[in-house]
Amino acid sequence: MPSYTLLAPAKINLLLEIVGDRPDGYHELVMVMQSVDLADVIHLLSLSSEHIQFQCQHPEVPQDSSNLAYKAAALMQSQFPGHGGVQITLEKNIPIGAGLAGGSTDAAAVLVGLDLMWNLGLTQSELESLAAQLGSDIPFCIGGGTKLALGRGEELSPLADLDHLYAVLAKYQSLSVSTPWAYNAYRQAFSAQYANTPKAQEARRRQGPSVPLLQALQASQDVRLGQCLHNDLEKVVLTEYPKVQALKAAFEQYHPLGTMMSGSGPTVFALWADKDQAEAMARGVQEAIADSDLQVWVTKFCASGIHLLEHSSA
Ligand code: C5P
Repeated sequence: MPSYTLLAPAKINLLLEIVGDRPDGYHELVMVMQSVDLADVIHLLSLSSEHIQFQCQHPEVPQDSSNLAYKAAALMQSQFPGHGGVQITLEKNIPIGAGLAGGSTDAAAVLVGLDLMWNLGLTQSELESLAAQLGSDIPFCIGGGTKLALGRGEELSPLADLDHLYAVLAKYQSLSVSTPWAYNAYRQAFSAQYANTPKAQEARRRQGPSVPLLQALQASQDVRLGQCLHNDLEKVVLTEYPKVQALKAAFEQYHPLGTMMSGSGPTVFALWADKDQAEAMARGVQEAIADSDLQVWVTKFCASGIHLLEHSSA
């Protein structure tokens, strides 16, 4: 039976600004999202029956229909019936509950892989529309790279490539943050400051922290870019998780271009233009904190999202 193997990169947020509430209950956001080369691998094997099978060795990945990759296959089957089923095998390298879109990128890989396997010829924008039905970060994960994301996170526009940069990522293995919790905690603390009409939201966006960051990006000013990193969710997550705050402070001692929590956390990253300096910092932080619960990765920014690694038509 035909099989496809896809690479599914993680993402970090260089910017996450919460503008206000949306009528659909989500938050109106401005985000700058960036793919990095820490990636899961997804194998898809075509099944002649209509079954969707899912397997993953990682003990914390749900093995049932609550898994986003499973949901992506079910959505494709309901939209494009008659192509049979699929066995999904996930090699999980991206930490879970980390703010790195690990579950979202796996779902994006299933959408891209089934489009290929079933010869559907969907455009990237058609794939992104399907992805938006499953989660706010999944449309970005399809094409990846460096993108501005507005709305719920699904209105995407490309930005200048940053694939010369590196990010050192660090996460305490035993800590994970629930994304709905982080957004709800933010709403409870800050909803009095929300811009809730389209006009007020547009005005807020024009004065917000994305303006200097996008200027730095456009002008290829890495130092300024590092200084303009911004994530509103830090205000609730860092207060709730002092260990994450301390990790960020430990990163700052190495004077990277910038350091910030990604997404709803708890992963913290530090930005570097130089690979040797990034690696030296990764070693230094591991030695200084000396906690076997701390995981550290040196990653490179990458210019694309899901891509095909292998295909067999046998
Ligand atoms: O879309 P997704 O399922 O990934 O979102 C997870 C949670 O994050 C939502 O249930 C919501 O609490 C929060 N969220 C939000 N506004 C967004 C995106 C996510 O409030 N634009």
